[in-house]
Amino acid sequence: MHGMQERSEAMKNEIINIGIPENPFGGGASLNAWLLTGEKNILIDGVPEKHAEEYIKNISAHISPDKIDCIVMGHASPERTGCLKRLLELNGNIKVYASVAGLRNIEETLNFSVNGEICKNGGRLEAGDNSLEFYLTPNVTWPDTMLTYSKQHEALFTGELFSSAAEGAAEFYEKNLRFFVPYVKAAVKKVKDISPKVLYPGRGTAPARNINELTGLYDRLYAEKFQDTKKVLLAYASRSGNTAAVAGKIQNKLESRGVSVLSFDLTCCTSLQRVAKAAEDADGLVLGTYTNKRTMPQCVWDFISSLNVNLMSGKPYFVFGSQGWSGEGVFMADSILSMLKLRHCGKALSFTLAPSESDISSALQYAQTLADKLSEVQHA
Ligand SMILES: Cc1cc2nc3c(=O)[nH]c(=O)nc-3n(C[C@H](O)[C@H](O)[C@H](O)COP(=O)(O)O)c2cc1C
Repeated sequence: MHGMQERSEAMKNEIINIGIPENPFGGGASLNAWLLTGEKNILIDGVPEKHAEEYIKNISAHISPDKIDCIVMGHASPERTGCLKRLLELNGNIKVYASVAGLRNIEETLNFSVNGEICKNGGRLEAGDNSLEFYLTPNVTWPDTMLTYSKQHEALFTGELFSSAAEGAAEFYEKNLRFFVPYVKAAVKKVKDISPKVLYPGRGTAPARNINELTGLYDRLYAEKFQDTKKVLLAYASRSGNTAAVAGKIQNKLESRGVSVLSFDLTCCTSLQRVAKAAEDADGLVLGTYTNKRTMPQCVWDFISSLNVNLMSGKPYFVFGSQGWSGEGVFMADSILSMLKLRHCGKALSFTLAPSESDISSALQYAQTLADKLSEVQHA
């Protein structure tokens, strides 16, 4: 990392919140950004464009913007990069530190080149009496995300990780981080390895010294999802009962193998969100659909599009269903789940109108294969 110009008047080392009290994108908590003062003055994170003046005013209450040496961007969403244009107009010498993807996103947002420096995993910035280290934590929640650790303060700037909404950290996790669970787990492991004394999350309560409580909360929240009992979500759409009849046989077979089955008829389901959440919590998925006007019925489209693809990826599944003459529904559902990177247990089972004995025995064979695969499932 580059050294920066020396200045004679150094401020004492402080971490000052220069963010905005109410996150404009909802959640009812503050959107935090930080000024680290010292021999060099560092900003960590920005705010949306429409709050740029407030941000500048918050900085100016402590130090003139032309005395800022650099800004570190934990990630480069517009919610964070929006103020950069105004900031760099005021002081074009500010150096911008971000991950490689972060710098690209910043330049794609501003549409001009910045005086940028790439932060690598484990990379450092020595800035006067401030010494920062960077740790890449992709997909928590943007792909370009990184943690920034101040050695001097033993403080970790965590962005979305450990942030809280007005209702608390668990609610923030449920609404914003649950989708990214495997990446959140990897990031929390990094936090434990870094072992900071204090956390500075990007939203809500900060600083946070209850680190064990927060990491414990996250551990509990994943544990709720990853229990030992194998669970299958059986979701089906059946208009005249043919697909439903086979769903019942599959359920019995899976249960006879000790698998817990949660079954939903999508055609009369009032909360698809509930079914999608059950799919996330399950270890495997069985989807039944009839064919309707050469496609899947609307409720099956809606169900699939409600799925959290990050959490479904890698789970074993199979698709079955009744058709009258062309049978597109079953094959569409099968292709889409495969594209979403679930692991299929064999090609889709399509049968004509009422299921024959042989259709039922094929369905039971699939259920058998799924039960076998479930014992191989490794959670991320
Ligand atoms: C309005 C309507 C449209 C249909 N369109 C198709 C179709 O395009 N292709 C096909 O193979 N079957 C089609 N079918 C036939 C159904 O898929 C078939 O009757 C199936 O057995 C219904 O399964 P279920 O008893 O599980 O509802 C259609 C049926 C209805 C009532």
